[in-house]
Formats: sequence, C-alpha cells, structure tokens
Amino acid sequence: MESTSLVFLSIVYLVLVVVHGASETESLLKFKNSLVIGRENGLKSWHRRNPTCKWIGVLCDRGFVWGLQLENFELSGYLDIEALTGLKSLRSLSFMNNKLGGPFPEFKKLVALKSLYLSNNQFDVKIPKDAFDGMGWLKKLHLEHNKFRGEIPASLANSPKLLELRLDGNRFTGQIPEFTHKPHMLNLSNNALAGPIPKILSTMDPKFFEGNNGLCEKPLDTKCSSPYSLSPEPKDNSKKKSSMFLYIVAAVVAALAVILIIIGVIIFLNHRRKKKQSLLTAEPGPSSLQLRAGIQESEKGQSSYHSQNRAAKRMIHTTKLSFLRDDKGKFELQDLLKASAEILGSGCFGASYKTLLSNGSLMVVKRFKHMNNAGTEEFQEHMKRLGRLNHENLLPIVAYYYKKEEKLFVSDFVGKGSLAAHLHGHKSLGQPSLDWPTRFNIVKGVGQGLLYLHKNLPSLMAPHGHLKSSNVLLNENFEPLLMDYGLIPMINEESAQELMVAYKSPEYLKQSRVTKKTDVWGLGVLILEILTGKIPESFPQNSKDSEEDLASWVKSSFRGEWTPELFDQEMGKTNNCEAEILKLLRIGLSCCEVDVEKRLDIREAVEKMEDLIKEREQGDDDFYSTYASEADGGSSRGVSSEAINLS
Ligand SMILES: *[C@@H]1O[C@H](CO)[C@@H](O)[C@H](O)[C@H]1NC(C)=O
Repeated sequence: MESTSLVFLSIVYLVLVVVHGASETESLLKFKNSLVIGRENGLKSWHRRNPTCKWIGVLCDRGFVWGLQLENFELSGYLDIEALTGLKSLRSLSFMNNKLGGPFPEFKKLVALKSLYLSNNQFDVKIPKDAFDGMGWLKKLHLEHNKFRGEIPASLANSPKLLELRLDGNRFTGQIPEFTHKPHMLNLSNNALAGPIPKILSTMDPKFFEGNNGLCEKPLDTKCSSPYSLSPEPKDNSKKKSSMFLYIVAAVVAALAVILIIIGVIIFLNHRRKKKQSLLTAEPGPSSLQLRAGIQESEKGQSSYHSQNRAAKRMIHTTKLSFLRDDKGKFELQDLLKASAEILGSGCFGASYKTLLSNGSLMVVKRFKHMNNAGTEEFQEHMKRLGRLNHENLLPIVAYYYKKEEKLFVSDFVGKGSLAAHLHGHKSLGQPSLDWPTRFNIVKGVGQGLLYLHKNLPSLMAPHGHLKSSNVLLNENFEPLLMDYGLIPMINEESAQELMVAYKSPEYLKQSRVTKKTDVWGLGVLILEILTGKIPESFPQNSKDSEEDLASWVKSSFRGEWTPELFDQEMGKTNNCEAEILKLLRIGLSCCEVDVEKRLDIREAVEKMEDLIKEREQGDDDFYSTYASEADGGSSRGVSSEAINLS
C-alpha cells in the first residue's frame, strides 16, 4: 500500500519536474533573446540540446532554477524580466560587470527575488519611486558603480527584509529617505546626496556616507544648517487621546507577555535539563579521550546509559544530514555516531570529533555553538554557497546538520593536523618543526585560498573572517587547507565580536569596522607568526592604549637587516634564503599596516609572494654571490631535510 502510493507520488513529482523543466527552458531562451552578448561564445551552452541546469550561469536546486549568475559576459541590450516570471523558483539574479543600461528593468515582477546584483554596469537613469514595491523578500541589492541618478527610491527604504544595500559610486541626489529599519550594510558613499542622515542610520560607519559633500548629522561630524528640518519627530497633539488608549492596550499586552515569558522559561529550563543528557551536548571530561556513542557501550554510569540511549535514538530519528558534496557517498548522522568518535579538540565555537565511517573514510564532525544569526532558509542558502566553493587550499564542507539547538559541520579528516600544532607544539608531537621552504609554501597556499574566497564570496566583507594558524590544516604533503571560512553571516554578532579574528583587527578595535582588507591583516599576522614562531595571542590583546601586538613587536624589532634572533630558531638552517625570508617579512608587515588604505589588498599580497617565487627561479645573483661561500652544498638553495638539526 504504502510503497505503491510512494511510487505514484514519485511519478507525479517526475512529471512535474519534466513539464516544469520544459517551461523553464523556454523562459530562459526567451530571456536570452533580449540580450546582446559581447563575450565570444558567452551563452553557447544555452541550447535545447543541453539540460537547462547545465547551462552556464544557471543555478539549480533539485532541477529547478533558483538563480542566474551572468557576470562578465559583456551583456547589453535589455533584460526581459517578463520572460523570467516563468521561473517559479528564481530567487537570485546577478548581472554584475556587464554593459547593461537603458530604463530600470521591472524587477518588481519577480516578487520572490531575494538578491539582485547589478554592480558595475552602465545604467544612467532615474529609478522609479515604486521600483521595489511588493518585493517583500529582497535582502541584498547591489547597484554600485553605475550612473544611477535622481533620488533613492522610497520603496527601497520601506523594503522589510533588506539587509545589504550598496548604492555607492552613482549619482544619486536629494535626501536619504527614512528607512523603516537599519540594514546590516549600507554603502551610500560617492554620490551627490545632501541633507540630514536619518536617525536610524546614525550608528553606521561614517565611511558609508563619504564623498557626498552635502550630508550632515551623525555619524558624520558636520551639523546641519537650518533649511533641513532635523529628525522629524511627529508629536501631534490631536493624537494624544488615541495614544492614551494605546497605552492601556500596551499595558495589557505587556502583562500577558510577562506571563508567557515565565511559562516559556520554565519549559526552556526543563528542555535544557533533558538536552544535557543528549549525546553531543555532553562535554567530554579532560580525561576521557574517547567519546562513545550511546548506541554502543557507554562509559558513563549504568543509570544514565538508558536515558542517553533514548536521547540518541530520538535525535537520530529526527535527523537528516544535508549534503553539499557527493564525492564521499551518502551517510547519516547515525553512521557518524555509531563509529567511535575521538575528540580532536575544542575550539572557541565548540568541540570537533574524529570518526571512522564503515566505508573506511575518516571524517571530522565539528559542533558550532553561537550560530543563530541566520534563519533556516538563510542558513541553508549560505551553506549552499559555501558548498559550491572548490579550491585546493580550502577544506570542503561535505555535509551539515541544522537544527535550532544543534549545528554540525562534517568534513574530511586532514592528516597532519593544524599549522599551529606544527609551529608551537611540534616537540610534544615528537616531530621536527617545519623548514623554510615548507613554511613559505604554506603561506603561499593560504594566500591563494584567501584570494579565491575573496573572488567567490564577494558579498562578504571578510570572506574568511577567522584566519589563524589553528584554522589552517596541513595535508600529507604539507599543503595548507583553510577551514572555518565564511562563517561571519551565521555567528551571533556578540560571539563573533568576542571570538572571531576579524574582530581583533586594528580597524575593528579602533573604528568598529571590518573591511575587505581585514582578512589581509589576518594573513599578515600568520606570516609573522610563521617567521618568528611567536604566538600572536601571547601578546596583550584588545588593550587600546598598549599598541603591543605581534605586528608592532616585529616592526619595532626589525632593523631592516638580517637579525637571526627575530626568527624562529626551529626553522633550521636558512642557508642562502635570508633575502627571501626578509622579503616575506616585509610582505607580512605590509599586510599588517594599521592604516587600511596603506595595507596591501589580497591580490597584491598574493602577487608579491608569486614574485618572490619568480625571483627564486631566475636566481637572485647578487645575493647568491654574497652568500655562496657559506652554503653547504653550493647549489642547493633551499633547506634540505638533512640540513635540519633534528636534535
Ligand atoms: C563603499 O563604497 C566605496 C566607494 O565605492 C568603496 O570604496 C568601499 O570599499 C565601499 N565599502 C564597503 C564596505 O563596501
């Protein structure tokens, strides 16, 4: 019975997908007809012979189109939004970096749209006041670097879910409209806006209002002069009576709310007590290195065994892992728990466990506390974005588990552990420390991973956000793999400020802002750490008066020449490589520039490291002749492993 209805349902679903798919294909082809494609062979794959989801720039989820990402295609012509209304699952559109212009397209026909990117195009028009009316789901709107004119449309300021708004680098004029709520990010810089900045925006970073000349009031330092009425506070007398009535209603509602809260707290506390007994919540004592799943034997007392067992089973029943990659085969949380799990360590976000699947793969499960900044849908969307990343220096997330009270990430186990362990704990690992060529190779890989993140997560201010040596893993060949990237949108703001590396940057400590160069500062600190062997956290932190951190210590100790005391003695012999090491040190220091304007950007930092390799390959003759006499083997420029003093 059940199985036949299941088969029936699957057939219905299949038919739906096929029929719907065909209409999506037609919609997209119609849309394509309105475009003029400058890039040669740009949309060649958009052809009935190919399945729609394989077309370039078409983003699908379970066979339905949810996004179009047509960036850098030299597109012009007009956008046939009407045609796109045939795509019922469409949520995201990006036409960044093209040559689009003409009247503002009627995006509001796509009511369910969540993000829209039109940055770096050639729009040279006023946007109609009602252009965003009815777009209740719009979260991200990027219109920067066009030539939009006229006033900022009022419908935008009323958009209920707007989180990110970039209008910078246009020609908007007039006053900033009253926003109904404060977006997380709002960049209005380099326009021709004037008048008072609405109160609700007064706590935002002043940078976002720069380059407008006519703006005044907080967060800027300029006061408005008379013609502008300051922060309209509609204290109307005629409304007094009705407000009296409102007070009474409010008081009653408040009383009810208090009662509800008390009941809620009681339920919550009860729930917590129960949850404490659940498996993964049980924090391991320092002595027990093995966390065994309650399904097998428990090392805890007999009495708690049964309740644990029950809690575990209940959890498994309500549990599904969401997979971001399928190259590892499918497994369930159940499989991860069945295997004996070993605690790898507990980072600031929660513990990680190593576990062996029955198919022989070693996986790591990492718990994340502090992760309820985003709603379910937003979380899943962000995870999908992270799942699409693919770079040899990034640790891929294989699957994740999302429940309100528990969030887990599953990834591959990486053989050699973290860079931090190798730099600072190699003696207790019983291993030699890393030699210079290996250290340089690691830094280079980290730079490359970061550059990739910056290119592929352009909407995040600090696409990594949490770069430090304990978040860089080393594989069997000592190639670095970054982990814990892209977390900022998901971590509670409060915890993020307390825990994440981006929030320890000088620009955050001094000006409460995170910029595109904040990750570069993290890279700089990592370079200095790898060269000096000093632990960045061992310098006094967060103290605003004392400037002493690793970067300023290196800066004040570095006299522009080779000083062996400055560098990690464990690096072994450095024959002939002093010049290279000094060059990397200088790169590290430029990445740590306190003044963000002077700091390298990520591309420059990576290029400088690549230049170092090129110079090495061409042979730095001057330097070589000076130091050749001291070299052990004459021609060998790197440090061979025999050259390291292993004692
Ligand atoms: C804001 O816009 C300006 C001008 O385009 C740009 O330089 C700056 O990086 C932007 N800031 C953010 C946080 O996007």
